[in-house]
Amino acid sequence: MRPVRKAVIPVAGLGTRFLPATKAVPKELLPIVDVPAIQVVIEEAVAAGIEEVILVTGRGKGAIMDHFDHSYELEDTLKRRGKHAERIELERISDMVRAVAIRQKAALGLGHAVLCARAAIGDEPFVVILPDDIIDADPGVTAQLISQYERYGAGVLATMEVPLDKTSMYGVISGAPMSERAWRINTLVEKPEPDDAPSCFAVIGRYVLPPEIFAHLEATEPDDSGEIQLTDGLRRLAADDGLLGYEFEGRHYDIADRLGFLKANLEYALKREGLGTELRDYLRTLSL
Ligand code: UTP
Repeated sequence: MRPVRKAVIPVAGLGTRFLPATKAVPKELLPIVDVPAIQVVIEEAVAAGIEEVILVTGRGKGAIMDHFDHSYELEDTLKRRGKHAERIELERISDMVRAVAIRQKAALGLGHAVLCARAAIGDEPFVVILPDDIIDADPGVTAQLISQYERYGAGVLATMEVPLDKTSMYGVISGAPMSERAWRINTLVEKPEPDDAPSCFAVIGRYVLPPEIFAHLEATEPDDSGEIQLTDGLRRLAADDGLLGYEFEGRHYDIADRLGFLKANLEYALKREGLGTELRDYLRTLSL
């Protein structure tokens, strides 16, 4: 079995749910405390053994690549001012991973974005990471999924149980149990109303996929809005090659949603050394 060495991170979406913040700033650079969301997910990928990240970018997203590049002027200034810890941290971020950018010239859907990375991935398995989904877990969710891929030899989607009245916000699976947390997927439905949902297990933004997914996405017709949906390609993959759902262990935040973004920031800050205690004391003073 070939090792999972590469990650595709689609960041070409317009981020309309978080306007006006995302008008000039890519939503992936909005911070969780002081770390951009994109760095949080790339650290998760690197911890899982990923060596190369393929960012599928769009107009106005150039600053994301800058974040993972050296900034010699800044590093030199920090050195001259004796701010060594800060300089070392910036160098660590620049050297963290090999990053490649591929342009998706029009936002034609998540399936299309993944297809844009085809040549950069080649004939090997890879992980897709959506930076809107921040998952606090140890080991990280990417590592959890890769270990399931290595165990069963089939693609694996991260899944999470959601309330029945929220199924219309997610892709929802149903399948046959393989272990306490893993299912072999039979059905995959995009955003079903509660009455049509085959289960309460939603797909969250981490996927380990074999290269066969590209042929399935090629064969997928655009939907009514002109977008190629990843879910449609995944349904074909499940039917032809088999696909698993894995109920990951960890705490999930949807940071594309304002409340999810605030919860992530609050909880990460409460856990942060040198910040958490003071923040907790401050929160206690608020008459909530
Ligand atoms: P979403 O549709 O949830 O995100 O896409 P969005 O378009 O950025 O945000 P809203 O809905 O307008 O607020 C899920 C992921 O797929 C990427 C997005 O960047 C996000 O990471 N995506 C989506 C692309 O890269 N290209 C696309 O054509 C569509």
